[in-house]
Amino acid sequence: ALQPKVVIVIFGATGDLASRKLYPSIYNLYKKGQLSENFAVVGLARRPWTDEVLRENVEKSVDKAFSPNEDLSEFASHFYYQSFDVTDDSTYAGLNTLMSKLDETYQTEGNRLFYLAMAPNFFGMIAKKLKEYGLKESNGWTRLIIEKPFGHDHPSAEDLNNEIREAFDEEQIYRIDHYLGKEMVQNIEVIRFANGIFEHLWNNQFISNIQVTASEVLGVEDRARYYDDSGAIRDMLQNHIMQIVSLLLMEPPIKLTTDEIRSEKIKVLRALRKIEEDKIDQYFVRGQYDAGEIDSEAVPAYRAEDQELAESNTETYVAGKLVIDNYRWAGVPIYIRTGKRMAKKAINIVIQFKDLPMNLYYKSSKERYPNLLNISIQPNEGITLTLNANKSGSGTLAEPIHLAYNQHAVPGINTPEAYEKLLFDCMVGDATNFTHWDEVALSWKFVDPILNAWSTKKADFPNYKSGSMGPKAADELLEKDGFHWWDI
Ligand code: BG6
Repeated sequence: ALQPKVVIVIFGATGDLASRKLYPSIYNLYKKGQLSENFAVVGLARRPWTDEVLRENVEKSVDKAFSPNEDLSEFASHFYYQSFDVTDDSTYAGLNTLMSKLDETYQTEGNRLFYLAMAPNFFGMIAKKLKEYGLKESNGWTRLIIEKPFGHDHPSAEDLNNEIREAFDEEQIYRIDHYLGKEMVQNIEVIRFANGIFEHLWNNQFISNIQVTASEVLGVEDRARYYDDSGAIRDMLQNHIMQIVSLLLMEPPIKLTTDEIRSEKIKVLRALRKIEEDKIDQYFVRGQYDAGEIDSEAVPAYRAEDQELAESNTETYVAGKLVIDNYRWAGVPIYIRTGKRMAKKAINIVIQFKDLPMNLYYKSSKERYPNLLNISIQPNEGITLTLNANKSGSGTLAEPIHLAYNQHAVPGINTPEAYEKLLFDCMVGDATNFTHWDEVALSWKFVDPILNAWSTKKADFPNYKSGSMGPKAADELLEKDGFHWWDI
């Protein structure tokens, strides 16, 4: 088995992402033998921590994630801390020396992975300095993982990309979208292209509409500053949702290689109809949560979460209808919705198949049950096919039945965390489940008109209760096409 050897540098080592996701993921890779002893991690941040403090925090975060109930000191001994000011040149030189030393101690063959998990306004500068101070020069590979947000609109993303590309080649840049590391997101391709019964029907002749829902129970939490500048479009739609949509709609790749898969996804984004600013309201609905109840607990409105948010016009919810202008999908609406403080945490895809031209077995013309394929990404991981059958005792009429496969219910399957998979992919040089610049660019070009339209018009917020499934207008968006959201 492949066991990458590497020195990993984490910019933002004291942050939330590092402790919630990165340290536990590295631990799991180590535990499972996907990482050998030949690795070291350098944590960087401004705080004056020491190696010991970082190690304690690493142990704490692993304990919190898995309670492994074991001595973690050997694992934690691979971690080193350097206090770092991204704007201060001398610290880059210091980092280079430390990395060379660790390369020798841990025999990492000169492989270097830089992970930018911090405020995005420094991404460009860091990339530039890494090159300037020779940190990219080693006799192994050098790769850069960049967290989102990758810009805040198309022009700023392009500027950032140009800055990074001056220091790193496209093949060295791994733009992470953690949704692409989710087991069931990776499964979309397999379900589609490994099953004749779906793939033959996967087009506008047989599918009436597709629905993608990513609802969250959590509110803004302590990320008011980031989130209020961002909103649901930048936070979820531009990246995670667009990625799911391209996997759902892409043509079968001719080979399972990074380039072939990415190029099919890019084609979907190119076929996505750009909605002009003055027509946005016909296609998109925005929302912001009001106070409400979740799990019988009262929760405050978005504007009451933090003083800074008192007059916020930021959307915490977006629903939309995407239109694809290509041969396979012309005429099939793709509905998407995502939001904070909704009734439940769920990431779900529903493929609604066209109804039969005549069906004598329905109870009434109102109770129609089209066939549905539901792909559940979270918290359930599985697929459910809704069919019509005659349940005993109900005469000759049809009722919906569900054929379900639930991955959690299969013994021995222990789904790895998305970050774990993606970190490993990067270390072995597989960029398939990272976003290519063209995908980032096309997604921004698509959402920019929505952002512009909304930033110039004040919204009537708040407009949905915490604990609900979003504003009424999102239901109307489907109703005017004769559809409704399937809540599965
Ligand atoms: C992140 C967003 O990218 O995804 C968060 O910034 C959101 O606001 C999160 O909560 C959702 O991820 P997941 O894996 O919990 O669905």
